[in-house]
Amino acid sequence: MTQPLSPAELARRIPKAELHLHIEGSLEPELIFSLAQRNGVSLPYASVEALRAAYAFTDLQSFLDIYYAGASVLLREADFYDMAWAYFERAHADRVIHAELFFDPQTHTERGVSMAAVIGGLSRACADAQQKLGISAALILCFLRHLSEDDAFATLEAALPHRAHFIGVGLDSSELGHPPSKFERVFARCRELGLHVVAHAGEEGPPEYMWQAIDLLKVERIDHGVACLQDPLLVAELAHTRLPLTVCPLSNLKLSVVNDLSAHPLKRMLDAGLCVTINSDDPAYFGGYMNANFVQTVEALGLTRDEVITLARNSFEASFVDADRRSACLQQVSSLARVQA
Ligand code: HPA
Ligand code: ZN
Repeated sequence: MTQPLSPAELARRIPKAELHLHIEGSLEPELIFSLAQRNGVSLPYASVEALRAAYAFTDLQSFLDIYYAGASVLLREADFYDMAWAYFERAHADRVIHAELFFDPQTHTERGVSMAAVIGGLSRACADAQQKLGISAALILCFLRHLSEDDAFATLEAALPHRAHFIGVGLDSSELGHPPSKFERVFARCRELGLHVVAHAGEEGPPEYMWQAIDLLKVERIDHGVACLQDPLLVAELAHTRLPLTVCPLSNLKLSVVNDLSAHPLKRMLDAGLCVTINSDDPAYFGGYMNANFVQTVEALGLTRDEVITLARNSFEASFVDADRRSACLQQVSSLARVQA
């Protein structure tokens, strides 16, 4: 009989899905500099170290300003491919076997980059992730909520020729002052088109934004959602429907949503019966990829092996993968769980 793994070691080894990852947030400073050089883009930072030193965020907006500046080096199809491929190699090392990647086309098209270059490069990397690493991967197009709904409609139009290469839409960027209600019509159109729908809500915003995401946008998952604990009725609703919440602990720490990982609400959310998952959000900016999030959260909150297994299971249950692949992934979790539970 082999010794059971510690919860942290089990978290490292367990197969998992990543459902909340902004691919532009996986751009490491080294890659930003090498793409800047390749594309002749000048950066307002003298070195990789100077750029990294600027990663001292106080809230969501202070992060977004640097995140959009970093993305300015992405110009050609190959740049998007290289960025996504670098992410998949890291995800593979963390036992991510399924990934649904957010991308922000408006950040690029407003600089004159074509939708074909953005989606072409990302979808080619997804195909290679499947073929070379065995990771099933899909793309979710995010609308920037600080821009108008008309802008979102125009972005959807521009993306539709590439419909085969993305499975859904999301809503990200500055939350406060840009409630889900602003995007009710464009989300209705996306649902008509058969796209999956998700939205960031309850990161810095109030529980009311989560209700709007549910009632008006009819989302299938909420990204972040940590504000739900302020509203017992909302918690009851989420426990009843099992609407998944893609939680990102290191992001919450770096953007001062929580002051310390030991104060993170993830365990309370699990205890309330919510379908919670762990994700990395913008790993190049927030201090770590999937396993850094998983392991640091397990240690800070004292999560058990059973809770680690639940989190891994939730990640596949919350995913948009097809039924066969989902049961194959869950099977992989079960084989490890059988020896470890
Ligand atoms: N919140 C909102 N928008 C974002 C984020 C986030 O954490 N990361 C990238 N865009
Ligand atoms: Zn996010």
